[in-house]
Amino acid sequence: MPQMATQATTTPAKRGAPGVAFGFCVSHAPQILLRPKAEDPAEIDKVHEGYRMVARRAAQQDVDALCIVALDHLHNHFLNLVPQFTIFTGSPVVAQFNRTRVECGADPGIANSLIDGLLAQDFDPAFSQNEVLDHSFMIPLHDIAPELSVPVVPIIVNAYVPPQPSIDRCFRLGQAVARWATDSGLRVGIVSSGGMSHYPGTKQFHNPDVASDHRVLDWLRAGEPERLVRLDAATLDTMGMVEMRTWAVSLGARSGHGGGATVHSYWDSGHCGYAIVEF
Ligand SMILES: [Fe+2]
Repeated sequence: MPQMATQATTTPAKRGAPGVAFGFCVSHAPQILLRPKAEDPAEIDKVHEGYRMVARRAAQQDVDALCIVALDHLHNHFLNLVPQFTIFTGSPVVAQFNRTRVECGADPGIANSLIDGLLAQDFDPAFSQNEVLDHSFMIPLHDIAPELSVPVVPIIVNAYVPPQPSIDRCFRLGQAVARWATDSGLRVGIVSSGGMSHYPGTKQFHNPDVASDHRVLDWLRAGEPERLVRLDAATLDTMGMVEMRTWAVSLGARSGHGGGATVHSYWDSGHCGYAIVEF
């Protein structure tokens, strides 16, 4: 008797549509890697698990690339030139914190295609082929890269050197990223690295605005990112949220999908709100 075919186990899963398949926002405080004794190891473990979740989602969603949106803490962009938005187009992607370097696969073709897509939508990003990205990239990539099988496309936002782009402009950049992905037939994931409330190098270092963190997370859970992106630069600064400009890019990139965000974890470390948010 002929045997029944076992098609179900061999047919590949149907591929999803082009566009931005998933979005995450995460934190990148150096202590997440340094693990000082004063910080709860279980809470830090949740942050690392969140980073690994990004890589798993990239595999589950069968994406072509992972865009990572972070910033520059005056390592690369300061006195000589401060672009508001920069796309890294070199290969490989290298990010470093102290003596630890992380190297990720890159696809300059995809990165250059993103520049073309943004130029066509009235954004004029700078680009760089020779830059060692700082800890805002390195700390999440430290856990993401080993489990990631697709190239990384870094987007660097000027979060620290005034005048910075408005958070609304960052949100609209994200929307342009989504249109580029859809129009070019690419399926990408996006992760933003920054915040939440913290005041590095100031007297307020040990007093992050935790109440504002919870307010923002409530807005995102309710699917209302526009309440965050309506904030002006002075208010963001007062809330310790200048880095949330990076979050706005991913929120914009996923804004067409509606629905609220999932807050996988949040912890007030005493100097910064560590968050893992997916939407
Ligand atoms: Fe930072």
